[in-house]
Amino acid sequence: MAEKPVIFVTRKLPAPVEARIARDYEGIFNPDDRLYTADELVEISAKADAMMPCHSEQLTAEVIARLPDCIKAIANFSVGYDHVDVAAAKERGIIVTNTPDVLSDATAEIAMLCMLGAARRAGEGVGLVREAGWQDWSPAFMVGHQVTGKRFGVIGMGRVGQVAAKRARGFDMDIHYTKRTRLDASIESPLAATYHETIEDLLPQCDVLSLHCPATPETKGLLNEARLALLPEGAIVVNTARGALIDDDALVAALKSGQVAAAGLDVFNGEPRDIHPEYRSLPNVFALPHIGSATRDTRIAMGYRALDNLDAIFAGKEPGDRVA
Ligand code: DGY
Repeated sequence: MAEKPVIFVTRKLPAPVEARIARDYEGIFNPDDRLYTADELVEISAKADAMMPCHSEQLTAEVIARLPDCIKAIANFSVGYDHVDVAAAKERGIIVTNTPDVLSDATAEIAMLCMLGAARRAGEGVGLVREAGWQDWSPAFMVGHQVTGKRFGVIGMGRVGQVAAKRARGFDMDIHYTKRTRLDASIESPLAATYHETIEDLLPQCDVLSLHCPATPETKGLLNEARLALLPEGAIVVNTARGALIDDDALVAALKSGQVAAAGLDVFNGEPRDIHPEYRSLPNVFALPHIGSATRDTRIAMGYRALDNLDAIFAGKEPGDRVA
C-alpha cells in the first residue's frame, strides 16, 4: 500500500480534526501549540508533503523560497490568507487553499458583539464591575448609543458581510453596502440592502460601519483620515476582518475627537503584541483578541474544510477552495 502523505499541522487543532488527519495521513502535530519560528517552519516542512498553517504563521516570500520541494500544498486553516505570499507560492508551484463559508456565522456573531460592545460601552461597564469602580447609578450614568433602527454599513459584502447584515436586520437596521460587484437581486432584496458604488458614497450613510473585506495591497489602510471624515459625526466603527484595513493613527484621532463615537475591534495591525497602544487605553474602544471564528463548531468545520482541500489535492483533483 502506498505511504500516506505527511501533513505538517503548525498549531494544535481540535481533537476530531487531528483524529481525521491521523486516520487519513501521517500527521506532524504540535501538541504544545508553540508558535514556530520561520526556521522551524522550514526545517519541519522538510519531512512533509503539505502544510496546514494558521494566520499566526507568516509565510512570506522569503519563507516560501526556503520551503523544501517536497511541500506541494499550503492548506490554510483560515479564510484570510494575507499571511501567505500567494504570488511566491504560485511561482514555486505550491497550491494554496483557504476555508471560506464555515466561519461566516461565528465571525458575524463577533461583529454584532463588537457593534454592541462599542455602542453600549461594554468594555467600560465590565471594568467598573470587576474593579469595584461602580459606586452609583443615575440616568446620566454609562449612557451609550442605541443601534436599533439605525444604518449598518458594510464594506466588503461577501460571505461574512452578508451574514452580519442579516443579523443587523434583526436590530431593524437599514443595510447599506459597497462591493466591487453589486449583489444579485436574489441576495440584495431579502436584506433590503442599498448598494453604493464607492466607499465614498457609502460612508455618509453609516451610523455603524462594519469592515468585511480581505486584507490585500489594495485594501491596506482603506479606512484613513479622509474617509473617516466622511462618516456621520459619532459613527461606530467595527472591524472583524483584518487590522491592515485601518490606518490606526487616523482612527485613534477620530476616536479622540468624537468623529467616531466608539470602535469595536477584533483584529489589529501588529497583533497580538504590538497593537496601537491607545487601543488599550481609550475608553471608547471595545477590543477583543481576534476571536471571530473561535467557537468549537467552527474550528472543527475549518479543519474539515482544510482537509477536504488536501483530500482533493492528494487524489489529484482540483481543491474546492484554491486561492493559488
Ligand atoms: C480567518 O480564518 O481568517 C480568521 O481570521 C482566523 O484566522
